[in-house]
Amino acid sequence: MSVSKPLPHDAAKLHVTGTARYVDDVPMPAGTLHLAFGTSTVARGMLKSVNLEKVKQAPGVVAVLTAKDLPFANDVSPSIHDEPLLSDGTVHYVGQPIFLVVAQTHSQARFAARQGDIQYVEETPIFSIEDALAADARFENGPRVYTKGDIASALSSAPNRLKGRIEMGGQEHFYLEGQAALALPQEGGDMVVHSSTQHPTEIQHKVADALGVDMHAVRVEIRRMGGGFGGKESQGNALAVSCAVAARATGQPCKMRYDRDDDMTITGKRHDFRIDYDVGYDANGRLTGVDFTHYTRCGWAQDLSLPVADRAMLHADNAYLLPAARITSHRLKTNMQSATAYRGFGGPQGMLGIERVMDHVAHALGKDPAAVRRVNFYAAPDAVAGSSEGKAGTGRRFGAEHSPVAEAENTTPYDMEVTDFILHEMTEKLLADADYEGRKAAVDEWNAKHTTLKKGIAFNPVKFGISFTLTHLNQAGALVHVYQDGSIQLNHGGTEMGQGLFQKVAQVAAARFGVDLSAVKITATDTGKVPNTSATAASSGTDLNGMAVQNACDIIRDRIAECLAEIHETATGDVTFDNGMVVVGNVEMSFADAAKTAYENRVSLSATGFYKTPDVAWDRIAGKGRPFFYFAYGAAISEVVIDTLTGENRLLRVDVLHDAGASLNPALDIGQIEGGFVQGAGWLTTEELVWDDAGRLRTHAPSTYKIPACSDRPEVFNVALWDGENRAETVYRSKAVGEPPFMLGISAHLALADACGACGATYPDLQAPATAQEVLQAVKRARA
Ligand code: MTE
Ligand code: MOS
Repeated sequence: MSVSKPLPHDAAKLHVTGTARYVDDVPMPAGTLHLAFGTSTVARGMLKSVNLEKVKQAPGVVAVLTAKDLPFANDVSPSIHDEPLLSDGTVHYVGQPIFLVVAQTHSQARFAARQGDIQYVEETPIFSIEDALAADARFENGPRVYTKGDIASALSSAPNRLKGRIEMGGQEHFYLEGQAALALPQEGGDMVVHSSTQHPTEIQHKVADALGVDMHAVRVEIRRMGGGFGGKESQGNALAVSCAVAARATGQPCKMRYDRDDDMTITGKRHDFRIDYDVGYDANGRLTGVDFTHYTRCGWAQDLSLPVADRAMLHADNAYLLPAARITSHRLKTNMQSATAYRGFGGPQGMLGIERVMDHVAHALGKDPAAVRRVNFYAAPDAVAGSSEGKAGTGRRFGAEHSPVAEAENTTPYDMEVTDFILHEMTEKLLADADYEGRKAAVDEWNAKHTTLKKGIAFNPVKFGISFTLTHLNQAGALVHVYQDGSIQLNHGGTEMGQGLFQKVAQVAAARFGVDLSAVKITATDTGKVPNTSATAASSGTDLNGMAVQNACDIIRDRIAECLAEIHETATGDVTFDNGMVVVGNVEMSFADAAKTAYENRVSLSATGFYKTPDVAWDRIAGKGRPFFYFAYGAAISEVVIDTLTGENRLLRVDVLHDAGASLNPALDIGQIEGGFVQGAGWLTTEELVWDDAGRLRTHAPSTYKIPACSDRPEVFNVALWDGENRAETVYRSKAVGEPPFMLGISAHLALADACGACGATYPDLQAPATAQEVLQAVKRARA
């Protein structure tokens, strides 16, 4: 069967031969015009005067548009209409689009965009957390707070207590393919848009609003992106809307793509966070309570910041049963790019908070951080008294005697019972397979003998909630056609960004019809085929679209079976589809013959499919409910070496055990895990965003912003899949795998902290990103 096979990515050959077609490769009709934005050079203020004479006279310029030239909505916000496409007279960050140039070539548009003469009335910008708090510049009225138990008494009665803080930077998506869009005007004012987007329906919606037409007049298509990572959930709106508006204004096709510097300067990135913690714990390191305060800089517009900050709160526990907890989240408005979705969607930031707590507590007690983590784990399902799956009285597998809570309360700070916890077994296996104990002893031995090079080793678990927290987004549709020659055309609402979604879903379709994968043609995502789609995000692409496709295929398969059963006078249940053959009682035929027969008997061979995730219900204001259908788990061990003279460092070895449920495609899943780990480690090590005092992003190109290179991957990189099915009824019992492995990269940061800690007795208090400079500072702190 085609599911569970380690098949290569469907476009692997096209990728490596340079023939995969991206938006920028779509052949342009003659007369296509090119666009570029003229952007703000100040971080906050009002437009005093905008003189665009030189822009208009620049070579090749066909039109120049400002807000007043926009016929309908001047808005590209995915949430609360607070994001004008072109400045409405106010500016909120350096890089904000003010006017739009339409020119004959890409270079001409870019040149002209720099010729604007704009005067501002400047206002004092808000950049820092302190300034934002002082000005009460925030989204939502006050901080959002989730609580479990009585945190005040849990802290005051705790045997031990400590406080600390970790700052963590944001992150540039650095998708290899920059943002791009192409709008093709049609008859009667209709518009076709090719957009490099994770969210075609959103593009359709925003373009329709901007053109003053119904959604039915706009069709959006995307075959693939060269990476999205969350950066193409909402950030493509501005380009697509610009192209559509300019195409309407000029009557000609319009195309826009950001040069890398523009892309980094204009678009939003991962939210940076400061997390303060106040923790109570016992002599074993078992936490009695944690009080977290999250401060996040959201940038100038709301975008997706509220659900991102919510998800950070929802992962403040990670894998640990917190008897009492309070999480306070400040969503601050600052004069910077509007921070947006990025792999993990706030989860990594929330999780780093509690992983830092575990590390700090272990240091204070002089205990092995891995042991402290295990003492705090949620109970395994078979160990939870009174749980739906539990056997009464078996006790927590680890640390039962220290647990101050009743065994039945295996609940998160947001009141969801954890019923699928498998990290006890996974951790045991990973620590044994990777010889954690032995290598930790070897690291200690090395550190005792060496002064310049210090090593560190660290373990971290991941428990990541799967589902959109906005419940209604958990739905998907599919459209499947079977042609009379038995070939199959597949379409669904998900988008391909390199993660392998299309291949996995095609495997599902092939399996339902019992045919070879080569019989299935994967087609571009198209709002004209499947409407009202959710963004391909929250790692739920396969879970949702896989199920919708399964539904559509089963409808067609059942129709074929019914038709054949009637002809051959047997029961529908006696018709089987396998190995490219259809067996009807004692008659056997190829799938192609079966399809032809069904066609000739006037059976519809086309169907839509639909799926909605069951059992999710969540009140984000109260912070209570079941936001997630299930959890995906992972565990990692990283070993590093640092140079205490320069702070330079290297990942020596990484071992990962990750839970993809019953994997639909182990090769693709391992690719996701490797890529996720490296991207997560990059966030916490070399990737540093720097804004100057005027709010200009100084790290706006690969020359100054360092993502991990191939040579930065760990020298030894062992990745294994956990062998087990999803307890929840997902497509073939697989689990979502897109985002969870990102957070395995936290172990790289913890290992660096461990190496810094080996330099002295003081807690090194390593911040993120742990650049060479930061490592050097942490070494100094440890020695103090
Ligand atoms: N993998 C690749 N190669 N490229 C990407 O852009 N995006 C990640 C993840 N893995 C991404 C990726 C993010 S942010 C998400 S939400 C998921 O893939 C989305 O796809 P899925 O739901 O099909 O897993
Ligand atoms: Mo992913 S951040 O949900 O696109």
